[in-house]
Amino acid sequence: GPELFGARGNSRGWDITDSGDLEGIEAARAPWRSEVFHAAPMIAGPVVGAAPLTAVNPARPEDVVGRVVHAAAEDVETALAAARPWDAPAEERAKVLRKAAELYEAEFGPAFAILAREAGKSQLDAVGELREACDFLRYYADGAAGLTAPARGVFACISPWNFPLAIFTGQISAALAAGNGVLAKPAEQTPLIAALAVRLLHQAGVPETALQLLPGDGPTVGAALTSDPRVAGVAFTGSTETAQAIRWAMADNLDPAAPLIAETGGLNAMIVDSTALPEQAVRDILASAFQSAGQRCSALRCLYVQQDVAETVQTMLFGAMEELALGDPWDLATDVGPVIDAEARQGIAEYVARARTEGRVLKELRAPNEGHFIAPLVLKVTGIADLEREVFGPVLHLATFKAHEIDKVIADINATGYGLTFGLHSRIDDRVQQVVEQIKVGNTYVNRNQIGAVVGSQPFGGEGLSGTGPKAGGPEYLARFTKGETPAGGR
Ligand code: SER
Repeated sequence: GPELFGARGNSRGWDITDSGDLEGIEAARAPWRSEVFHAAPMIAGPVVGAAPLTAVNPARPEDVVGRVVHAAAEDVETALAAARPWDAPAEERAKVLRKAAELYEAEFGPAFAILAREAGKSQLDAVGELREACDFLRYYADGAAGLTAPARGVFACISPWNFPLAIFTGQISAALAAGNGVLAKPAEQTPLIAALAVRLLHQAGVPETALQLLPGDGPTVGAALTSDPRVAGVAFTGSTETAQAIRWAMADNLDPAAPLIAETGGLNAMIVDSTALPEQAVRDILASAFQSAGQRCSALRCLYVQQDVAETVQTMLFGAMEELALGDPWDLATDVGPVIDAEARQGIAEYVARARTEGRVLKELRAPNEGHFIAPLVLKVTGIADLEREVFGPVLHLATFKAHEIDKVIADINATGYGLTFGLHSRIDDRVQQVVEQIKVGNTYVNRNQIGAVVGSQPFGGEGLSGTGPKAGGPEYLARFTKGETPAGGR
């Protein structure tokens, strides 16, 4: 039924189990297989630009995906000076954003090609990514008419590489729907998909002064924007540390009323008790921990299995892991692609090497020899307190607990200070009720996987170190981009 595709009005998307859809995807991607894409500052004025860089495919570093010109400091200044709020009526803004969603859907060939080759997205992930981007455009377009307060001015939107189209578009479309102008800084790793998105938004009718793209690094672009008093607010998704640095920069330089809307890291757990259906739990553990090569802030990091069923679940999980196909995301059979770049691979590999010397590797797959791959693996821990930090890759930590220890497990999960997602597999209704009440996270998922929140029906965002709220894709998000409600304690 239609609910399979999320909230009313959400994109139908593409069904990769449907042979017709698959053939359509293959045909539309094919011309872009070895295209060299381009990204450069898209600003309302002349571009100076830094020396061009080469973007390569993380699965096949010999595959040149694009040429990228970063913004020079002069370009950031040109963009700031030219930036204007979008002063069209709300209905007009909504119409343009809906038009952009149509253009995004029509351009699925190049979009899927760039998502695979620049961001290492499996086809399943690429489909989810494009659909979510369109959902954000339409959801915030729908919300524009209901806003009562005026726009704030010009927003800096700073987005991550792990959802280089969906989150990039979500931040921008919310700011635009509310009538703001936007200065968008895409992640350094993914400027090519961002350039496609901005081209389509302009084509749909967003004025050049209301949406400018500044590819570049944190110091040159991000820091310049978040410390400039011409910026009226910041939307940021990325690490908790960077969010904290942005908050300081804003406090020193921006209007005290300027909001920071941040979605940051997580240290997410799942509890599987002895009443869970093991087949279902294993399927959902695999998706939560290893889909997107574990590069989701929502991803499962620490799995707690009740001791009575631990051996069964572990055996089934390790068996199921053997079936995961690792490889080039261009290949439609690939389940797990590479991590984003050499630096990410190196950091995760060092973490794993330490765990290996400590004898904590319980299960490890084999990675392809080429490309920036980390093979999915499972590490033994006594509990979530053993995790020093969020390891952004396909690394699952496994702990067991006894029935009487469940309160301690929940206390330990809450004590991390993060609060993004949580999963629970149990068939005892009272337990589900009780755990859901005690756990302090933004998004709790029961008897399903814990990734892939759906715009409109599952607003997404965390508590504590995981973000400021309000939740993206939820009813309160847009108002934060206006001069209206400023929730107590928020800023
Ligand atoms: N919204 C994504 C998810 O739910 C994470 O950013 O997986």
